[in-house]
Amino acid sequence: MKLALRWHVLLIGFLLGMSGAYAADNPTPSLHAEQLAQRPGRAGIASANALATEAGFEVLAKGGNAFDAAVAVASTLSVVEPESSGIGGGFMATLHIASSNRDVFVDARETAAAAVNAKDYLNPDGTPNRDAALKGPLSAGIPGEPAGLAWLSKHYGKVPLTVSLAPAIRTARDGFKPDGRLIGSIQDEQKNLERWPASAAKYLPDGKVPAAGEIWRDPEQAHTLELLAQYGDSGFYSGETAQKLIDAVHAAGGNWTLKDLSSYRVKERMPITVDYHGYKIITAPPPSSGGVAIAEILNILSGFDMSKLDQVHRTHLVIESMRRAFRDHNDYLGDPDFVKMPLDMLLSPYYADGLRQTILPDKATPSSMLAPTNGQDPGMHTTHFSIIDADGNMVAITSTVNYVLGSTFVAKGTGVLLNDEMDDFALVPNKPNVYGLLGSKANAPEPGKRMLSSMSPSIVIGPDRTAVIGSPGGSTIITQVLEGILAFIDGGDAHQMVAHKRFHHQYMPDAVMVEPGAFDAPTSEALTRMGYTLKEREPWGFMNVVIWDRRTNKLDAASDPRRPDGLGKVQ
Ligand code: GLY
Repeated sequence: MKLALRWHVLLIGFLLGMSGAYAADNPTPSLHAEQLAQRPGRAGIASANALATEAGFEVLAKGGNAFDAAVAVASTLSVVEPESSGIGGGFMATLHIASSNRDVFVDARETAAAAVNAKDYLNPDGTPNRDAALKGPLSAGIPGEPAGLAWLSKHYGKVPLTVSLAPAIRTARDGFKPDGRLIGSIQDEQKNLERWPASAAKYLPDGKVPAAGEIWRDPEQAHTLELLAQYGDSGFYSGETAQKLIDAVHAAGGNWTLKDLSSYRVKERMPITVDYHGYKIITAPPPSSGGVAIAEILNILSGFDMSKLDQVHRTHLVIESMRRAFRDHNDYLGDPDFVKMPLDMLLSPYYADGLRQTILPDKATPSSMLAPTNGQDPGMHTTHFSIIDADGNMVAITSTVNYVLGSTFVAKGTGVLLNDEMDDFALVPNKPNVYGLLGSKANAPEPGKRMLSSMSPSIVIGPDRTAVIGSPGGSTIITQVLEGILAFIDGGDAHQMVAHKRFHHQYMPDAVMVEPGAFDAPTSEALTRMGYTLKEREPWGFMNVVIWDRRTNKLDAASDPRRPDGLGKVQ
């Protein structure tokens, strides 16, 4: 079939998918009713730092459930892994609540301040001002993580925040030994941290990068967490902490107001669900692009018998599906509270049928045939953790301050490192963000709007096994989670899922990023002959997975072997 004809098929798929409306505001009942009676009896937690995983178990031992453990893990990561996430950032969570058999998506993503002005991210000559987008208080959205933690505790937890935040407060106050990645991140960002006295005071004590093996304390963050524990979200979004945040942001040229903080709200949304060969994938809706892209890719792939294909053709189909999903990501997606998105179309099997017809059997489709754009390499930040508790509650949380050490701006007197999530907006139309992602008006900054994310915390229910999965990695989050899901469907255990070698295509740049060792030489040569440009890149990860095998009632937890500091544990 000629390519032009294939585009007509695509158009028909597009039109068939246009009908209907998407309601994204209410939690949805889970459909996997066979799970109602069964309970694992033990708990599994996998996170990027052993202290955070142990904090989760500590809170379970004090009578907490998976949601309390999630508060403990996230807040401890804010202390011990600040380069990736923290209370100055935001998170997205996919939850399964065993007692009511419900799946819920909790959106604690940052929002733009009311005074946001796209011109602040331009140089006088009209070129993008990348420093304003990535460093200092203008790059920071209003944090969502403190409100999200308070929400998890209040609506789903069993113990008060004073219990679930206690391990993080203790670790911040008594100190811990920073791991190599935190030390390396401080080294890399030293010049930026030195721009703001409170950042230098926190991360460069005595003007130096902390040394390996030294105890490092964070008493100001301990105090801020104590106020959150005592007063709930009002302990962060009003009163002492809020005033200190506003004073610090203003002193450094930012534009937040007390009202921006006090009006921050967590949103519960209906997760996206997709059925793929007997597996139900429950994942992130907008303002994440992750679930839409994963659903679109799986819907395209579901029309092929992947088990009958060799590695070259299987990889070809996965890359082509990624390419098409990321094209749609750039064109359509944004905050559902601000933009109308054709989600029924994007999630429709008919639309996927049309896209599938445009894939040539033995040849790469140049992205320029889909629409011309440009981009750059994605980075590797953010964090993900997975939990299943003894009662069968499940939590997949991906949490971020965006780029390494966020904005590198610490608000004086709070210990709070602010995110640089404003760069996840399409601040300048058709100019790539730090992950090489392009965006349209749908993701333009507006007061109170949430910036598009790639975070894809997911729960996968198979005929016999359930997996809680997610990963950091900027735009590669989506494809790494997809490949983890495919490894699970292929029968992989938690360790095989997290160790699986990865590759990524995001439409633009038109190249396949490949982890060294993902393809053997004949596969690489065959893909190159098909028209692919393969580019090796590092790093990948950091995936954290917990699996529940419902046949044996056994849990399995694994943390990505690409980094030594994580811990997946069952007890
Ligand atoms: N800041 C990375 C993301 O949310 O996708």
